[in-house]
Amino acid sequence: MADKDKEEEKKIPLHVGIIMDGNGRWAKRRGLPRVMGHKAGMEALEEAIDNAHSLGVRYLSLYAFSTENWKRLPSEVAGLMGLFRLYLKNKIEKLHSRGARIRFVGKLEAFAPDIRNGVRFAEEYTRGNTEIDIIICVNYGGRQEIVDAVNCLLAAPPDGPVTEESLRSKMYAPDIPDPDLLIRTGGELRMSNFWLWEGAYSEYYFTDVYWPDFDRTELERALESYSGRERRYGTA
Ligand code: IPE
Ligand code: IPE
Ligand code: MG
Repeated sequence: MADKDKEEEKKIPLHVGIIMDGNGRWAKRRGLPRVMGHKAGMEALEEAIDNAHSLGVRYLSLYAFSTENWKRLPSEVAGLMGLFRLYLKNKIEKLHSRGARIRFVGKLEAFAPDIRNGVRFAEEYTRGNTEIDIIICVNYGGRQEIVDAVNCLLAAPPDGPVTEESLRSKMYAPDIPDPDLLIRTGGELRMSNFWLWEGAYSEYYFTDVYWPDFDRTELERALESYSGRERRYGTA
């Protein structure tokens, strides 16, 4: 087969989710405080968005802070909140200029009012953009999301029984298609509560590379792996 035909055959995932893990170990390896790893991770995120966009990914979701991450030392949590503020202040204009729509999903009420305002502004400001959707998962937990969806249905019960569709429609981002490919950096082989419902039939890709080192080549490797897979959804 000619190279050009092979290129045309490549399957690009519509929605890629990433568990951005390994910032702390990246910093430790350099003798730096953990928060410096998170800072490097924030730069990697900016690059990853550009790379995903230019490689044809339409939806990119990123696990930035889990419902369990509050268990970390207060100093690390404070450092992460500082970076969240910095991101909202400095990175939204560039995203907008790239035609990206940004959304934040998770229990946002846990964040300080200025952060919630920044989130609201970023979402409103970029709402009309259609090049790529960026979904940042903060204070997100897959179990919490399912519990919230159940409570939503209980608050306004449907006529008949609950169905997969009615429950799915109460998840945090009902209009976003389920992730096709879930990537986890940092070497751990677990999902740590990410997209539990939505990831039921996602393809997984794990790499030892720490998140701050996850560059375009690494993303291309993950997409290459996805491209060669056959998704059967239970069929023969
Ligand atoms: C991921 O990196 C970022 C967050 C969970 C906020 P980690 O901070 O978990 O880095 P490691 O896993 O300790 O290396
Ligand atoms: C998962 O990483 C959460 C994020 C990347 C935001 P963790 O480092 O919190 O996961 P565990 O503790 O290793 O499972
Ligand atoms: Mg970790």
